[in-house]
Amino acid sequence: MTKGSGKHKRDGGGRAGDGQDASFPPVVAVDVGTTKIACLVGELGPEGNLARVRSCATVPARGMHKGVVVDQEDAAGSIRAAVEKAAEGARARLEEATVGVAGSHILSMNRRVAIDNPNEDRRITTAERRALLEKLKDVQVSPDFQLIHAIPRDYVLDGQDGVKRPVGMWANRVEMTGHLVFGAVNSIQNLVASVEAAGLVLDDIVLEPLASSRACLDEQEMKSGTLLVDIGGGTTDVAMFADSRLVHSAVLPVGGNHITRDISVGLKVPLAVAEKIKIDYGHAQSHLVEDIEMIHTEAVPANAGGDRQLSFSRKFLARIIEARVTEIFRLVTRQAMDSGYLSSIATGIVVTGGTSQLEGMAGLARLVTKMPARQGVPRGPSSAVDIPSNPVYATAVGLLLYGSERMFARGPIRTDEPSTSTEGFLNEVLAKVKGWFKPSKPSGRL
Ligand SMILES: Nc1ncnc2c1ncn2[C@@H]1O[C@H](COP(=O)(O)OP(=O)(O)OP(=O)(O)O)[C@@H](O)[C@H]1O
Ligand SMILES: [Mg+2]
Repeated sequence: MTKGSGKHKRDGGGRAGDGQDASFPPVVAVDVGTTKIACLVGELGPEGNLARVRSCATVPARGMHKGVVVDQEDAAGSIRAAVEKAAEGARARLEEATVGVAGSHILSMNRRVAIDNPNEDRRITTAERRALLEKLKDVQVSPDFQLIHAIPRDYVLDGQDGVKRPVGMWANRVEMTGHLVFGAVNSIQNLVASVEAAGLVLDDIVLEPLASSRACLDEQEMKSGTLLVDIGGGTTDVAMFADSRLVHSAVLPVGGNHITRDISVGLKVPLAVAEKIKIDYGHAQSHLVEDIEMIHTEAVPANAGGDRQLSFSRKFLARIIEARVTEIFRLVTRQAMDSGYLSSIATGIVVTGGTSQLEGMAGLARLVTKMPARQGVPRGPSSAVDIPSNPVYATAVGLLLYGSERMFARGPIRTDEPSTSTEGFLNEVLAKVKGWFKPSKPSGRL
């Protein structure tokens, strides 16, 4: 990786801590989730790695539904609240952020494109690689959709597949396979506008399942084939990796809020009570709960002033949860099957996001998907400190890792250039919002 030029200390920018390169401003990640907005502030180390998480703030999300902004003013208000809280914790002014995108408007596809090698000596150069990439990106699913990521997977040289680095090799015909991710222009524009209305400049936008994978999977898992499933409040994000490449991604419009709603209906309690019951007593595998285990709790929220008591069997609660979670894992399995890469998943499934904290989740994932399963907790580089290890921060930590890498590659001064292609691991993020939304001046800085 090349270090950005022009070291420059910005006014009100990074407050140098141990090991931080003082010329870089703080790295900011904003995960605009359906239930919470998480804002993380990180410090860049001298090697360009994420050295420390200086601040980690969460506020309840407003104006969001199934991963997308449905009320811009409310969404901007909660983003602003999270950013202010994080700025206070980090004692820094926060200016630009890497933001996650999700929602059922996300579409993804695999594509294969080819060119005839124009070089007389038949040797492939970076120009051919670039031409293939442009061809890979040159597809429009609909005028309402815009490319977010174009990630090359591998190359086929004169029919020989499995080539990872074609430059310098010889071939007449060069093909590239890759994964493309699109999002609805309007949904993304609403997200960008909300972030800007909260006083931030959007530096980069990353598909949430990619970010969560970055935080929760190690290189070995990505190489041997892993399915990352981030079950949040309103969405279940899926990312499949084989041979260290993203081969499939999807955002399903179902998550922990649906479980809460099922409990609310099943036990005839308000949503707030159902949410508390889910977190305090929930289990995803009913056969592991004793028949005789009874729960006695309040049937109305404490702040509603009621004192109606509720008694129910914990096994009954677990059955309600199990039914919904089974449905989620079946949808995930269908995604994996339809991608055509199910047989490449050797390591199994890694479940993260807030809902992964339900007891019995990994066990149920194993039963339904017939794959090994574990819970994924976010991790940074081994030298990084204060990484929040709760799975609700999987996306935010991943965004911070992306943001750190991007900031180090481009240098301390922000440019309006989109992310560029590199040969780096998971870093071939190419087409970005910058080309299609010129960021307007934020209304106020924090
Ligand atoms: N300890 C817990 N046990 C069970 N469920 C939990 C627990 N903690 C949080 N949850 C659930 O996790 C969900 C929120 O997870 P998360 O913060 O990952 O979602 P989000 O990022 O806000 O939403 P999304 O990613 O779907 O847009 C909620 O449905 C919440 O009820
Ligand atoms: Mg989320």
